Amino acid sequence: EVYNPNGKYRVVSTKSMPGTRWIKLLVDQDCRLEICTEKKTILSVEDIISLIGNNCDGVIGQLTEDWGERLFSALSRAGGTAFSNMAVGYNNVDVDAANKYGVAVGNTPGVLTETTAELAASLSLAAARRIVEADEFMRGGLYDGWLPHLFVGNLLKGQTVGVIGAGRIGSAYARMMVEGFKMNLIYFDLYQSTRLEKFVTAYGQFLKANGEQPVTWRRASSMDEVLREADVISLHPVLDKTTYHLVNKERLGKMKKEAILINCSRGPVIDEAALVDHLRQNPMFRVGLDVFEEEPYMKPGLAEMKNAIVVPHIASASKWTREGMATLAALNVLGKIKNYPIWADPNR
Ligand code: DGY
Repeated sequence: EVYNPNGKYRVVSTKSMPGTRWIKLLVDQDCRLEICTEKKTILSVEDIISLIGNNCDGVIGQLTEDWGERLFSALSRAGGTAFSNMAVGYNNVDVDAANKYGVAVGNTPGVLTETTAELAASLSLAAARRIVEADEFMRGGLYDGWLPHLFVGNLLKGQTVGVIGAGRIGSAYARMMVEGFKMNLIYFDLYQSTRLEKFVTAYGQFLKANGEQPVTWRRASSMDEVLREADVISLHPVLDKTTYHLVNKERLGKMKKEAILINCSRGPVIDEAALVDHLRQNPMFRVGLDVFEEEPYMKPGLAEMKNAIVVPHIASASKWTREGMATLAALNVLGKIKNYPIWADPNR
């Protein structure tokens, strides 16, 4: 699909993206925009090299693509100087290789913060109240009347939510769980989240002033402290060498037997095979996963586990957010090509 065929700058988008604002932005700024219409979901390095061709100023790519040496050298040979991931995470991008070949890299933070936090909150609630199991039961025609024991789950109010990685998304999730469900908070982050601390303190004072039980909160000095104490744990770190298999067999063993674990960050943060064993051995332990170690696959056994809720990497999938991500990605590429300041450069 080609827009503005006579445009001066050739920009390639490896996928069609939601909305039209991003297309208009590029076309209005003299870009010839080519959107790949290949049906295959995940493009290989070879596919993308052929899309880049001999002349390409910038590319908007996806988190499923392997943006390393080969792609950045191909883009640089084609005269390209700009690449934007349509994602906030950029573990699929070798930023050093991009720097080596003089290609600026952008990502799309901010617009997906609340949407992603809302999915983590949805998974937390769905796991606590066993919504997916109950839905399957109902559709399976198994409901033959109200029973005192039927799908009894946890009350979140008064329980402790644990957040690992209190950046933008982790902090937004913590606020939702504290304010929305009056959960106590324990969090761990390598950096101090003063915004989160200010919020929880002020919210505690508000509850007290209104004669309600105040929530408690604490910044943990280690991740294991969160794992031991929290009833619901949500993972929000970036994926890098230090967070690969951050949640492994040993750490799973430190969590409460009835804890709920949520992951909307990146799959490899959890050792998924160890998680499947843990779910098998601890039927009251529940997990809500949006991401998987080797997407699009799940480790054997996971799909059969009743105590797991699994969704296909949809944390940022709201219309407003996806259109915003597409717009930011286009602005990133345009910013470099036209020498405007880059909006969202992960090097910063
Ligand atoms: C991201 O942006 O990194 C998400 O995983 C997809 O929205």
